[in-house]
Formats: sequence, structure tokens, C-alpha cells
Amino acid sequence: MKRIAVFASGFGSNLQALIDYEAGGNLNGSIVLVFSDNGKAYALKRAEKYGIKTMHFCIRDFKSRVEFDSRILKSLKSENIDLVVLAGYMLLLGGKIVSEYRGRILNIHPALLPSFKGTEGIRDAFEYGVKVTGVTVHFVDEGLDSGPIILQETVTIAETDNLETLEKKIHEVEHRIYPLAVKYFCEDRLKITGRKVSILNIYK
Ligand code: GRF
Repeated sequence: MKRIAVFASGFGSNLQALIDYEAGGNLNGSIVLVFSDNGKAYALKRAEKYGIKTMHFCIRDFKSRVEFDSRILKSLKSENIDLVVLAGYMLLLGGKIVSEYRGRILNIHPALLPSFKGTEGIRDAFEYGVKVTGVTVHFVDEGLDSGPIILQETVTIAETDNLETLEKKIHEVEHRIYPLAVKYFCEDRLKITGRKVSILNIYK
């Protein structure tokens, strides 16, 4: 059973979707740690409710980025974490964490990468006026929203949509496909070749 750490800075609805999926016996992994860089994140409350160990500290409390990253890495190692799942984590991960956990960090982005990178993917797509946007789950590398793509699903922007209704549609897709990608990882079914990710036994 893979040991999973979820990193979240805010509301944690994706964390909730993962917790629910695990509770349904489908994940083949276990969320053993939730980390936040924001002590007020509602994600921490969700974790506590389910008895999941939480950890939070703020980058401002460290002398440097390197020390902040080392503290995170130390905990990941002491908890024997196999997979880091970023779920609304608003900081870029430090290079040391990315290199030590290469191929073992996932992120979800609320747009069809490589379009609309950054923290406002839903709004940026909506304001640009695209007719189709969507959700991307990808591995994390050193760049911003730039790692190999695991899953993507499209969301159509209707004439009648506003930002709020689009957000709702995007989140529904996120909550469905993120648990699936994590499950694939936990079952060792993701094979990375350069930028391409194959899902082994896709119909399983
Ligand atoms: C999601 O839209 C995710 O795609 C983005 O941040 C948001 C987090 O939402 N990376 P939540 O905290 O999981 O509710």
C-alpha cells in the first residue's frame, strides 16, 4: 500500500474527494499525512476529522527556502511517503523536493495545460473566451505546471456560463479524475517516457 502525503493550502475539496475515494476502498493507497503552508487552511480541518496526521508551517518562519524545503523533506522521509499529491498547494515546490521525489509528485490544474498556467487557470480561460477548457493531472517537475501529463478532460464553456458555474463544472471533473490518477499511480500503472505518460492496462 502506497503511503500518500497531500499538500493543500486552502479549501481542500480535492483532498476530500481523495479521502472519500480511499474510504470507498478504491485508492489502493493510504493518505497518511496532510501538509499545509497555511495554518488556517480548511484542508487541515478535513484531515483532522478523519484522523489523518497533519503538519503545517509557514515559509516565513524559515531563514531560507532551502531550510523550508529541508524541513518538508525530513517529514516526508520520516513518514516513508511514496507519493506527494498537490491539491491546491499554492507554493512552487523547491528543487530539492522535486529531484528527490521525481516521478512521485502529482498536481492538478484547472485548465487544459499547457494553456492557462498559474494560479488563475479557470478565470484566465473564462476571460480569454475559449469555448473549451478542462482539467489536467500531471507529474511535477521544476517548472510551473509543466510536467508530463497523466490525464486531461475537457469542459465546455456554454454561452450561459459565468465564472461561478464554470468553476463548479471544473471542480466536478477534478473530483472525479484526480482520485483515478492517484489510483493508477498506486497500482504502478503510470509509465513515464520523456514527456509521455502511458497508463498501463487502461481498461482495468
Ligand atoms: C483546484 O481547482 C485545483 O485545480 C487547483 O487549486 C484548486 C484547489 O481546490 N490547483 P481545493 O482546495 O482542492 O478545493
